[in-house]
Amino acid sequence: MADTLTIIDNRTGRQYEVPITDGAIRAMDLRQIRTADDDFGLMTYDPAFQNTASCRSRITFIDGDKGVLLYRGYPIEQLAERSSFLDVACLLLDGELPTADQRQAWTSAITAQQRPPAGSERLLPGFPRDAHAMGVFVSLVGALSTYYPDAKKVTDPDNRRRQIERLIGHVPALGAWAYRHNRGLPLVEPDPSLSYAGNFLRMLFKEDGREYEPHPVLERALDILFILHADHEQNCSTNAMRGIGSSHADPFSSLAGAAAALYGPLHGGANEAVLRMLLEIGSTDRIPEFIKRVKAGEVRLMGFGHRVYKSYDPRARIIKRTADEVFAVTGRNPLLDVAIELERIALEDEYFVKRRLYPNVDFYSGLIYQAMGFPVEMFPVLFAIPRTAGWLSQWDELMRDPEQKIARPRQLYVGPSRRDVPES
Ligand code: CMC
Repeated sequence: MADTLTIIDNRTGRQYEVPITDGAIRAMDLRQIRTADDDFGLMTYDPAFQNTASCRSRITFIDGDKGVLLYRGYPIEQLAERSSFLDVACLLLDGELPTADQRQAWTSAITAQQRPPAGSERLLPGFPRDAHAMGVFVSLVGALSTYYPDAKKVTDPDNRRRQIERLIGHVPALGAWAYRHNRGLPLVEPDPSLSYAGNFLRMLFKEDGREYEPHPVLERALDILFILHADHEQNCSTNAMRGIGSSHADPFSSLAGAAAALYGPLHGGANEAVLRMLLEIGSTDRIPEFIKRVKAGEVRLMGFGHRVYKSYDPRARIIKRTADEVFAVTGRNPLLDVAIELERIALEDEYFVKRRLYPNVDFYSGLIYQAMGFPVEMFPVLFAIPRTAGWLSQWDELMRDPEQKIARPRQLYVGPSRRDVPES
């Protein structure tokens, strides 16, 4: 059986043979299909990239039908159980889990970068007191490019590595700053003796004049959530990271663009939207009425549905389990009953069954975040911090890929043909 596709162009009667590699044909192979010499050639039309691969990647694999998620071949369930977030970040970047020596070197490299430049701290008073934490985060990440002009040398792998360490090191502090700015609280200096998640919790919640020790269960739960959010192949924000990176913009600018893409309620902003939705529903007896509105197309059931997963999102399953451990410490979030009942009703309802809509990563994460004391505006920031590792791994892969060029889709122009402006 030949790995080719035979195409007959019924406009001309001509036949073409196009190779199939890794289950795909190359869109450029269609360009030869023309009706005349001056014809541009056949294109594909794929709004929202529903069936177009934009890259070859070795980082993350998803089987949406079976609910499988692998980072560099390792199942997400095993990584969540046996690894730390920093190990996973190293895995995503380098392709292998670190050895003991590598772990030590990598952890030191990240801890050495925990403190963003003093100049970026001075930007904080410029933001309104009630600024959305994600708006502050996106701005602070973008502003970093002005402090690190050397980051422009994106074709130099060593230089890229330096910026990657800076970004992974800096983002917890930037997220914590956004939170403390909203509350008018003084900033807390990083503590290099703590884990990545533990230090972040301390920078957020340490009270003036009092020591802070992260609760080990909450610290581990946050680390697991970070692992689950670290990468998810070519989603909207990663596509933004690669798209901006493809013009050889510096990584701080690219990552600010990726974080901005994540902010939207259809993507990383969904965790915030889920919690607002659960608060609006308020009690289980109001669920049927809400489901009616969803089915009438008035609102979406936030935290449900996914472009790739057409079965239960494996991350949602792990989060649901982690929630029990967190609630054992913090007390049960009363909205959990609403979420569980909402899920039960939705999974039995024909509307959701027919469309294969299942809970995604955002459905339960907000309940944990809220129980841990995070305000809803921080939820997308809690997604962006770990996704930084994924965005940078994807960016580094892009920069190493000889097939990549500046991202520049085609369009089908359907506007007016050439016409003259009336003479007045
Ligand atoms: N509630 C109600 N109906 C839905 C939902 C939902 N959450 N999601 C999809 N549908 C319906 C949609 O109306 C459409 O119905 P019809 O065929 O009758 O027009 C059908 O299901 C297919 O939906 P789609 O919008 O074409 O699917 P998509 O692949 O373009 O969108 C999605 C994927 C995640 C944007 C969408 O499911 C959604 O808006 N979900 C809610 C937001 C959310 O939870 N986002 C987080 C995604 S996971 C974390 C991340 O990666 O950021």
